[in-house]
Amino acid sequence: MKIALLGGTGHLGIGLAIRFALLGHEIIVGSRSTEKAKTKADEYNQILKTIGEGKIVGYENEKAAEMADISIFTIPWEYAFSTAESLKEVLVDKIVVSPLVPMEKVGKTFIYKRLPEGSAAEKLASILDSRVVSAYHNIPAEKFANFNEKFEWDVAVCGDDESAKKKVMDLTNQIEGLKAWDAGPLAVSSMVESITPLLINLMVRNKMRDLGVRFV
Ligand SMILES: NC(=O)c1ccc[n+]([C@@H]2O[C@H](COP(=O)([O-])OP(=O)(O)OC[C@H]3O[C@@H](n4cnc5c(N)ncnc54)[C@H](OP(=O)(O)O)[C@@H]3O)[C@@H](O)[C@H]2O)c1
Repeated sequence: MKIALLGGTGHLGIGLAIRFALLGHEIIVGSRSTEKAKTKADEYNQILKTIGEGKIVGYENEKAAEMADISIFTIPWEYAFSTAESLKEVLVDKIVVSPLVPMEKVGKTFIYKRLPEGSAAEKLASILDSRVVSAYHNIPAEKFANFNEKFEWDVAVCGDDESAKKKVMDLTNQIEGLKAWDAGPLAVSSMVESITPLLINLMVRNKMRDLGVRFV
């Protein structure tokens, strides 16, 4: 599968890029800058060499989205929607994954930010003529990008296009330590997105690190 990580040069992008590349998928790291995308792809390929096999290439976001079957928006939510507007044409009918978590800090506490569309994934779906699937919100990026670490995390996946959702769930289940669960239509995405500020508040207040979720 050809997978683009749009804004894949950041915290969540590295873990997804390298873990999917190790599984033999063709990975394209996207960035606003072609130069940065290529530099990051080189960096990720160096890491790959030390832990297994795989190949990652880097392109500007539009080219990356054009090349891919599935594009994951690993971009801060504040900037993801304007990026989506600019990529609308190249993403028509393609699978787009939203890990976006809209939240704001009020004092010392992170609060989920309700959007008029219901959730970040629904807002993305309202902009794009794409098959939007919502996933990966509750993965702690730092631990996920430590390739010596073991973890067991559940991933709640939502979407209105059942075959797109199944593809993303199948892909997710290929990553050792992740277990995908069908959470329902895109209308429930806000419930999954809002777990992330809860996890962050729990970590900050209780001096914990790298909290993920497991449904047991
Ligand atoms: N971090 C986590 O633990 C985590 C966990 C689950 C879900 N998420 C979600 O995943 C998404 C990415 O999070 P992250 O922590 O990986 O983000 P990040 O590292 O802060 O940023 C990712 C990339 O976004 C691009 N970017 C920054 N400003 C931009 C702008 N104005 N317009 C377009 N692109 C811009 C940058 O890439 P270029 O400079 O190369 O363009 C940057 O490297 C967020 O929506 C977040 O809610 C994060």
